[in-house]
Amino acid sequence: MSGNTSQLQVDGKTVDMAIKSGSVGPSVIDIAKLYAQTGMFTYDPGFTSTASCESQITYIDGDAGILLYRGYPIEQLAEHGDFLETCYLLLEGELPTAAQKADFDYRVTRHTMVHEQMARFFHGFRRDAHPMAIMVASIGALSAFYHDSTDISDPHQRMIASMRMIAKVPTLAAMAYKYTVGQPFVYPLNSLDYTSNFLRMCFAVPAEEYKVNPVLSRALDRIFILHADHEQNASTSTVRLAGSSGANPFACIAAGTACLWGPAHGGANEAALKMLEEIGSVDNIPKYIAKAKDKNDPFRLMGFGHRVYKNYDPRAKIMQKTTHEVLNELGIKDDPLLDVAVELERIALSDEYFIEKKLYPNIDFYSGITLKAMGFPTSMFTVLFTLARTVGWIAQWKEMIEDPSQRIGRPRQLYTGAPQRDYTPIGRR
Ligand code: CMC
Repeated sequence: MSGNTSQLQVDGKTVDMAIKSGSVGPSVIDIAKLYAQTGMFTYDPGFTSTASCESQITYIDGDAGILLYRGYPIEQLAEHGDFLETCYLLLEGELPTAAQKADFDYRVTRHTMVHEQMARFFHGFRRDAHPMAIMVASIGALSAFYHDSTDISDPHQRMIASMRMIAKVPTLAAMAYKYTVGQPFVYPLNSLDYTSNFLRMCFAVPAEEYKVNPVLSRALDRIFILHADHEQNASTSTVRLAGSSGANPFACIAAGTACLWGPAHGGANEAALKMLEEIGSVDNIPKYIAKAKDKNDPFRLMGFGHRVYKNYDPRAKIMQKTTHEVLNELGIKDDPLLDVAVELERIALSDEYFIEKKLYPNIDFYSGITLKAMGFPTSMFTVLFTLARTVGWIAQWKEMIEDPSQRIGRPRQLYTGAPQRDYTPIGRR
């Protein structure tokens, strides 16, 4: 490398490539002209060394365990801010003034109801459908119900679509839950704050008064802040790729939701709790640690490891504290799952395999215990992640659409299939 350029030698030819630096974090080598200059592509399955875009939203230093939204440390936002303030920050780039915050809250709150026909749409699902299946479908269906905000070339429509999704995804999430437990849908109550309203839509029933527990509401709000964005992860990259073709924002967020559902990504919170339940008692932990270390066993410790964090996930630390707060508030003194989690963490963190591979608990390790204590079934965990991540997806989608250099995303490949050959009629095969 020399100065602000790097050089690559291919077939005796030297190619100069510019090095671009960000505000913090690793620089990148600009390879955009590599194919034109050499006739070769780069090869990086899983994108471990590839920056897919330029972004000003979220920064992670995985070695130091740092997560910043628009420059603000996640710890400070979780401690002092609320989720809608975080939404404003992610979307607009700055923390809101009091007047901007009041206006933003008002605008989100006025969009919380969904088209009445959505209820009929829900009734087409089986009652035992996974709520994430309902989320993928119903978020995608918003484009059929709110067609007047699908023109992505119109900034006003983009803004309305964004507000609609931040406001309506909690309503859809609560409806997905109510539908699977066979209870009537609860309409939003706009006198409540965002997260209290969501709790009420999930847990109120017409037969009884529902009083929001402020400790639980604050804890869930904090969980939403922790999940709001995480730069170019799999689901966000999915949203960007879908959006790069000009697809409408509801369709793009539905694509992100589908990607998030996978157990290596957002589905890990559900998988982590199921794993803790399967382990069952502290005595069984060594057996599961051995399974996780066995190359011939596909078992992995769910809630452990991360592509970017090679240190304790900063969100996991806050999550662990929130877990204790919620259990205390609910008077849960002895939670066997928490006992298993604490001991599993202790053993794993002192085991050579986990130390050497820098595998630490991630956000999903403790979130399941907290959400379960609040009354959510495991199948809802990834739905809550979807609710919170919606704003991150929207902010990233908006940033991409507003970038004048934006083009359709189109990775290339290393083809290893059959070279050209002639068709053989079926009788001669
Ligand atoms: N348990 C046991 N071994 C593991 C684990 C684990 N949870 N995670 C990684 N490893 C091992 C893996 O076998 C590999 O070993 P080797 O080098 O000997 O082949 C090494 O560590 C590196 O793993 P990798 O799969 O190459 O790493 P990755 O960056 O591709 O995967 C991950 C990251 C998060 C998918 C993976 O750590 C994992 O599957 N964890 C469990 C699922 C999980 O908790 N996911 C939630 C992520 S945080 C929330 C979110 O962002 O959605």
